[in-house]
Amino acid sequence: MSIADDPDRAPARSHLYAMGLSEEEMRRPTVGIASTWTGTMPCNLTHRDLARHVATGVRGAGGTPMEFNTIAVSDNLTMGTPGMRASLVSREVIADSIELMGRAHQFDAMVCIVGCDKTVPAAMMAMARLDIPSVLLYSGSMMPGTWRGREVTIQDMWEALGERSVGRVSQEDVDDLARHACPGAGTCAAQYTANTMGTVADFLGLAPFGVGDIPATAPEKKAAAEQVGALALDVLSRDLRPSAILTQDAFHNAIVSVAAMAGSTNAVLHLLAIAREAGVELAIDTIGAVCRAVPIITALKPSGPYTAADLWRAGGTSLVAARLFEAGVLRDSVTLVDGRSPADVAASAVGTEGQDVVAEVNSPVKPPGALAILRGSLAPDGCVLKLGGRPDFVRRGPARVFDSEEECFEAIQSGRITEGDVVVVRYEGPAGGPGMREMLSITGALVGQGLGESVTLVTDGRFSGVSRGLVIGHVAPEAWHGGPIALVADGDTVVVDSARNALDLDVPAEELAERRAGWTRPERPVERGVLSKYAATVGSASDGAVTV
Ligand code: FES
Repeated sequence: MSIADDPDRAPARSHLYAMGLSEEEMRRPTVGIASTWTGTMPCNLTHRDLARHVATGVRGAGGTPMEFNTIAVSDNLTMGTPGMRASLVSREVIADSIELMGRAHQFDAMVCIVGCDKTVPAAMMAMARLDIPSVLLYSGSMMPGTWRGREVTIQDMWEALGERSVGRVSQEDVDDLARHACPGAGTCAAQYTANTMGTVADFLGLAPFGVGDIPATAPEKKAAAEQVGALALDVLSRDLRPSAILTQDAFHNAIVSVAAMAGSTNAVLHLLAIAREAGVELAIDTIGAVCRAVPIITALKPSGPYTAADLWRAGGTSLVAARLFEAGVLRDSVTLVDGRSPADVAASAVGTEGQDVVAEVNSPVKPPGALAILRGSLAPDGCVLKLGGRPDFVRRGPARVFDSEEECFEAIQSGRITEGDVVVVRYEGPAGGPGMREMLSITGALVGQGLGESVTLVTDGRFSGVSRGLVIGHVAPEAWHGGPIALVADGDTVVVDSARNALDLDVPAEELAERRAGWTRPERPVERGVLSKYAATVGSASDGAVTV
């Protein structure tokens, strides 16, 4: 019985009257519209406006929209500061917030509007938990900026800091670039974490193909948002729930998208977390195996020259799906939220004439191997190498060990890191950070100094999607829990053998046993509040760093 007709719900009705709802509106299906708007970042700045357009679509299709908001944390604004610790934590808080609103208000269906990095997996986690008919709306990328005649993104900004430290650019150049790198609202402008996860949402089937591609400030986005509102009612009428969408095959397709588009290493964490919420078995090594088999077919930054806006103009994620489907790489026995199949998406995809953003699978941009999952004596539970389609390699080098991102950044900026070094940054894991910070200040500085390929970075923290270079993150078990990374000493030989998917510490077992016997956790100020709760409940990165 609806609230409008239930005699005992009269008190609830009184509050709905107070909001201006009619009894007719109370009888209609309610659609919760979760927006991750905050006024603290450009990434999600359009969400209020989009929520209004989604609401219009909901009303037009016979539903009653109910908008609500969550928090969101900007990765770029917090990068390199203690504030970055809040970033991965925010994924759990956003997922919990959407879930709680769904449980409290018993929506019949839901639309989640997401943009900045953690908001995308968080919403998908909540959709899996609530399991009510739902649609995800990715709010879209920022346009690239233009600086001194070339297109630039936030990636150029971070790498400029490294170039400044070796005198290639001046502080005036950096300041001028900062004024031009980010021309307006939207998520970071290439295949960094947010766009990687927006693409994952398409390939999982929770978001309609083609909508997320539209840049945040493009006029077409508003009409697309209205259509998403109407789609929520259609999904409700079909009683299509996330549990019917989030299957093993759907996760396979999502991993394929990350592999084919050289997506962010963060996708590994987030896919594991979403799968866990959906009750789908997914092992970190499965992600590695798929990435080893699928070539890179897009030429997007940070590993190529193009931006997300270029991909949109070229044909979008639908064109990527078409190329993968035609090559038999995608599985077709999946359900997409808009009722189409991957074959339907492929059949309707249109590649812009002359585009070279998306290649054919049999003549790819780079060979297979966007990411690799390594194990070994330094990472018994696994870690993630951003292989980036490089040929397999063996790298042996002396460890340069730092117990925080800041210590390491200072060493790089002062010229104390040289070619061949293996930089080890530890106590930055999920529990140890706490919050598993992204090491963009370090990777940006290394690339800016020309050391991106000659220095290897190994950490129990993680990387921004903007990061490039020879980087290995998510080392598990993490140092805080006494993983072998806690035992590395300056000068130890670290060996990366990518063909064997191996990361080893070349130190005799007896020596390591001796070090373990003498190991204690470093003293740290006691964390309070949410970080303390998070550190106490978060699990391993190799399981998605979820809280239990
Ligand atoms: Fe929000 Fe990049 S910092 S998308």
